[in-house]
Amino acid sequence: MPHKEENKISIVELHPTFAAEVHGVDFSGDVSDEQFDEVYKAITKYGVLAFRNTDLDDARHVAFSARFGELDDVSPYTKMGKKNRLPFEQLFDVSNLLEDGSVAPLDSHRSAMNKGNSLFHVDSSFNPRRAGYSLLRAHELPPKGTGGNTEYADARTAFDELPEDLKNELLEKDYVVCHSLYHSRKLASPQSLPGVNPEDHFMSRHKLVQRHEPSGRVNLYIASHAHHVEGISPEKSKEIIDTVYKHACQPKYVVSIEWKNNNDLIMWDNTCVMHRAAGGSFEGKYKRDMRRTTVHDGSIHAWGLNEKTTDRMGSVNEMDRRLRS
Ligand code: OGA
Ligand code: MN
Repeated sequence: MPHKEENKISIVELHPTFAAEVHGVDFSGDVSDEQFDEVYKAITKYGVLAFRNTDLDDARHVAFSARFGELDDVSPYTKMGKKNRLPFEQLFDVSNLLEDGSVAPLDSHRSAMNKGNSLFHVDSSFNPRRAGYSLLRAHELPPKGTGGNTEYADARTAFDELPEDLKNELLEKDYVVCHSLYHSRKLASPQSLPGVNPEDHFMSRHKLVQRHEPSGRVNLYIASHAHHVEGISPEKSKEIIDTVYKHACQPKYVVSIEWKNNNDLIMWDNTCVMHRAAGGSFEGKYKRDMRRTTVHDGSIHAWGLNEKTTDRMGSVNEMDRRLRS
């Protein structure tokens, strides 16, 4: 029997308030229960964990992710006829590639939609059930020096450090924010989705200020998907969303993490950090083949104020039909 200490993972902090690199996890088979518990404790504390040079392949990536909870899948998209390039329904294709595996030209619809990821966001806040953890694996990285970092923003510390007046207002009013994928896609690429008005479609409703269940800390649940605050004037709504979002995206709350090797894995907790793709000169030229699993949130805030349906974006037609009925 190996000595217990040998199974210990070690942690290198990447920022003064959150995010860490984790060493010593053995991904070559099933991760041991002991190591899994340590990873769980670390993600609760740090919100973002980077694992370098893992032995994960697509199947083990999916299996490891499933230990954190129920996995989301791309069936809403494939049912609408979109082909999945990847071998598992639980893998979201976050690459810059077209279905045939070639690099998406900069002027393609795919590139326009990917641009949405360049704004700080959380995954799936626009769905009735939001995402908890995301686990992103680098399958094939672009050449070194051509960019492609992923950046993270610490939304718990951003709450702690809100100006006192604003913090009191948010706590007192307990605002509900409506989230829309169309909204963030149009924000990032104003020319895209012509004729689509986010207000004509389903929006997901979530409290702006909420306790992050695993850590007990308070979080700002804000994202580029945030379209408006419910029940107040459009002007006041815009002021709140712009102020809170800008506050949470300040450089002092942000860490930029470089992808160093194929098979690096970064996991984050969408219920306490935001993230964004930093982009780079690789775009339109070199492959950046990133694959993501998404764990449905299991906390009391998972559904926000939404009806508990299994509808998701991709099955938007279905969601819109329900909205109108
Ligand atoms: C995601 C995402 C950012 C990146 O996978 O959800 O936003 O750097 N990725 O690819
Ligand atoms: Mn994302």
